[in-house]
Amino acid sequence: MKKVEEKLKFTAVVIVLSDKGSKGERKDLSGPLAKELLEQNGYIVRKGILLPDEPELLKSELIRLTDEEKVDLIITSGGTGFSLRDNTPEATLAIADRNAPGIAEAIRAKSLEITGHAMLSRGVSVIRKQTLIINLPGSPKAVKESLEYILKYIDHGLKVLKGSAFDCADEEKK
Ligand code: MTE
Repeated sequence: MKKVEEKLKFTAVVIVLSDKGSKGERKDLSGPLAKELLEQNGYIVRKGILLPDEPELLKSELIRLTDEEKVDLIITSGGTGFSLRDNTPEATLAIADRNAPGIAEAIRAKSLEITGHAMLSRGVSVIRKQTLIINLPGSPKAVKESLEYILKYIDHGLKVLKGSAFDCADEEKK
C-alpha cells in the first residue's frame, strides 16, 4: 500500500497531577522537563497544566483537551502510585475509548531495567477519539527515563491514529 509521505507536527499538552505542586508547596520540575523533551522531539506543546490529585478535575480536562481542543498527545505525570490520592489511571480509563496497553507496558519494561520500583507505577496508555493519552510517574527522573524511550515510537502511532500513515513496513526497519 502507498505510504503518504508527510512531515507532521503533532500538538501535545502536559498535565501534572500533584497536590503539593498545585498548592505551590513544591516546585514542579516534571512538567517543564516533559515539555522540553517533547519539543526536542518535534511536538508543539500547547500548554502545561498543574492539577491536584482530583480525578474529576482530570477527567474533565482530558475530555476538553480531546473533544474541543483536539490535542494529538496528552502526557500526564504523577498520581500513578499506590497512595489513596493516586487516581490518574482510573480517571484516564474512565474517559478512554480504547486501550493502548503496549505503551504503558513498554514504559514499565524499560524502567524495570533501571529500578524495581517501576513495577509500582499503575500508569495506563489509552486512546480517546484521535488523541493518545499516556500516564507517566511523577518524578522528573521517571519522566525522563520514560519519555526518552517511547517518543521515537509514538510518532508512527499518531500518524496511524490521524490517518496519515498506513504502511508499517518502513517504520519496522527503524
Ligand atoms: N519509573 C522510572 N522509569 N523511574 C522511576 O524512578 N519510580 C517509581 C515508579 N516508576 C520510577 C518509575 C516509583 S518510586 C513509584 S512510587 C511509581 O513510579 C509511582 O509514581 P507516582 O505516584 O509519582 O506516579
